[in-house]
Amino acid sequence: MTLQSNYHRPVLLEEVLQIFNDVPAGKYLDVTLGGGGHVEAVLDLREDLGVVALDRDQDAIDASSRRLKRFRERVTLLKSDMKTFLQGDSTQSNGAYQFSAIFADLGVSSHHFDETSRGFSFSGHAVLDMRMDQESELSAFDVVNQYSQTDLVEVLKQGGDVRYAGRIAREIVEHRPIIYTDQLAQIVSAAIPQQAVKGRLHPATTVFQAIRIEVNGEFDQLRTLLASSRKQLIESGVLMVISYHSGEDRLVKEFMRAATTDHCSCPPKLPCVCGKTKWASPVTKGPLVASTDEVEANPRARSAKLRAIRKVELQKGSR
Ligand SMILES: C[S@@+](CC[C@H](N)C(=O)[O-])C[C@H]1O[C@@H](n2cnc3c(N)ncnc32)[C@H](O)[C@@H]1O
Repeated sequence: MTLQSNYHRPVLLEEVLQIFNDVPAGKYLDVTLGGGGHVEAVLDLREDLGVVALDRDQDAIDASSRRLKRFRERVTLLKSDMKTFLQGDSTQSNGAYQFSAIFADLGVSSHHFDETSRGFSFSGHAVLDMRMDQESELSAFDVVNQYSQTDLVEVLKQGGDVRYAGRIAREIVEHRPIIYTDQLAQIVSAAIPQQAVKGRLHPATTVFQAIRIEVNGEFDQLRTLLASSRKQLIESGVLMVISYHSGEDRLVKEFMRAATTDHCSCPPKLPCVCGKTKWASPVTKGPLVASTDEVEANPRARSAKLRAIRKVELQKGSR
């Protein structure tokens, strides 16, 4: 029996389950629990799997613990960000405990936008916040009101490929203090030449995305996840990542390409001693993207890209 949830609708669910069909039995790690939709479907599909699931947002833990109660001891929920968990010294991290799969569905959940008071959405009136973990220190208010103009330009370019980043950063600095989401959205709209406002995308969309990425250190979190994945997976274990942003997808793509490509620098006729041999095989050839039906039913799926690799430990010294 599946409990319906308004918290978040899981994307690329069929594609994810297809890959989970071929994951070794045991415990897997979900580093982005959200509303628990992916976890619930995976545990229904595979009775021989359990999960350790993390979220840095207590709201997600609360919503999912109700939804996943029926799985009892197959589920362990932890309020943690992925970096802290993966670098921690608990028995479940540091390679002391390895997983049959690692699943990451990056970014925010629908709940973050629907709950106006969380300050993620430019269409509501709320104090600028955007922290996924409500106990963390840096908020959108701090970024908008305390970063230098130069640093703001960098944030906008890195996290949102924002056009007119220089103009927008200058207007932000001139209008300080900026307290509310709708106030920032208006300043952004006014900073952009009218002829450049095209299509359905509100000009504040990419600006809010970039600030959110900065507030939550999202690139740094992802880099730690990727770098830890080899150690945290058992042999034949699978790493799956869904990203929604071109910068994140680039990191995932380059990491997976390197993991599945032979970089060995030893002389060709000798056994490898450099340790730079490939350690994974591709599961997805290119990124899997949502069907038009899924995008129609759930527009958030539009930018989703799913990539996966499987750990294949080579024999020591083999090429
Ligand atoms: C796209 S939603 C995941 C949705 C989930 N797959 C589902 O089926 O409902 C992303 C979730 O991951 C959490 N999150 C994002 N970055 C995180 C991180 N670095 N560590 C832990 N949780 C994170 C967010 O709080 C959010 O709840």
